[in-house]
Amino acid sequence: MTATICGTGSFIPSYTMDNHDIARLVDTSDEWIQERTGIARRHIIHGETTISMAAEAGRRALENAGISAEEVDLILVSTISSNLLLPCAACEVQKELGAKNAVCFDLNAACTGFVIAYNTAMAYLSGGIYRTALVIGSESLSNLTNWKDRGTCILFGDGAGAAVLQADGSVAEGFMGQGGNYIPVTHSDGGRGGALTCKSRHDFNGLTDEKQWNDASYYMQMDGQAVFKFAVKSVPEAITEVLKLNQVNAEEISFYVMHQANRRIVEAVAKRLGVPLEKFPMNLFEYGNTSSASIPILLDEMNREGRLVKGQKLVLAGFGAGLSWGASIVEWRR
Ligand code: UT7
Repeated sequence: MTATICGTGSFIPSYTMDNHDIARLVDTSDEWIQERTGIARRHIIHGETTISMAAEAGRRALENAGISAEEVDLILVSTISSNLLLPCAACEVQKELGAKNAVCFDLNAACTGFVIAYNTAMAYLSGGIYRTALVIGSESLSNLTNWKDRGTCILFGDGAGAAVLQADGSVAEGFMGQGGNYIPVTHSDGGRGGALTCKSRHDFNGLTDEKQWNDASYYMQMDGQAVFKFAVKSVPEAITEVLKLNQVNAEEISFYVMHQANRRIVEAVAKRLGVPLEKFPMNLFEYGNTSSASIPILLDEMNREGRLVKGQKLVLAGFGAGLSWGASIVEWRR
C-alpha cells in the first residue's frame, strides 16, 4: 500500500501578542526579538483550547480533502499541552467531528511530534491496517510559558494544524521509496533532555497550588544556546540521512518544511545543506514557535496558497525536547 496527504487544515486563535506586548512583561525589545529570532508576534488562546483548535483544524483538513468524518480510521493528535489528560485529545476530536469509526490516541514528542505522528500514521496505512488517518498537531504553549522568563516567553505561540492521509490502494514494490512511501529518519537522545524541560503539575511534590504556580520548573525551561547548537547540527544531518536512505537528490526537493522555532536556525540549516533559503518557507514571524503545530500550519498555508504542486517532493523536519529530531520525505500527490 502507498499513502499520501490528501488535505490540510489549520486553526489560529485571533488574539495576538506582539513583541511590544512582551516587552511590557519582561526586559526585552521588539528589535532584540526580531533580530535574534525573526518573530514579530504570536497568537494566543482566548477562550479556545488545545482540543477545540485540534478539532477545528481537523474539520478544515477533512473539508479540504473532501473526506467525510466517518471515513477516518485513525485520529492521532500530537501535543504537549492538552487541556485534558483523560480522555485523550484525539478522542475529544473524534466526538467533535463525529468520526465514530476512528481509533484515537495522542502522542508526545514535543516539537518533533508532527513528524513522528505523520510517520506513525504512514506506518499504519502502508501496512494496510488503516486506510484513512487524520494527523493533528495542536498546542496551547501559552499555558506552559513562564511569562517572567525572557529566555523563553518571547518564543512560543498557540495554534493547530492537521493533515489527512489516505492509502491509495496501489502496492509499493520492493524498496519503500518507490511508490511514494519513504523511510523516515528519527532520533532521540534522552541523555540531553535537560536542555528543554517542563514538569507536570501532577508531580506536585507536596507543594500547595500557589507554590506550584510560582515554581519555574512547572513552566518550560530551556538552555537556549544548547538547543540552538543541537538544532543547527542535527537537522541538516537528519535531512542528509533521509535523502541518502531513500536515494533522493537534494535538487529533487521543492521545499524543506521545517519546524518554525527561530529564523536563524532555519537559515543555518539551509546554509549547512547548501540549499537556497527560498526552499525553506517560514511563517514564524506571525506565529512564533507553536511546537508540534508549526509544520502542519505551514503546510496548510502553502497548500491553500497553491504553492504545492502534484509530484513535488517535500522534506518535513522537526526537532525539540527529548531531545528528539527527524526528517521525512513526502511526495505531494493531492
Ligand atoms: O522548539 C525548539 C525550542 N527551542 C528553540 O528552538 C530555541 C533555540 N534557541 C534560541 O532560539 C536562542 O538561543 C534564543 C532566541 C532563545 C536566545 O538567543 P541567543 O542569541 O542564543 O541569545 P543568548 O542566550 O546568547 O543571550 C545573548 C544576550 C545575553 O546578554 P549578555 O549576557 O550578552 O549581556 C542575554 O542575557 O541577550 C540577552 N537576552 C535578551 N535580551 C533581550 C536573552 N534573552 C533576551 C531577551 N531580550 N528576550
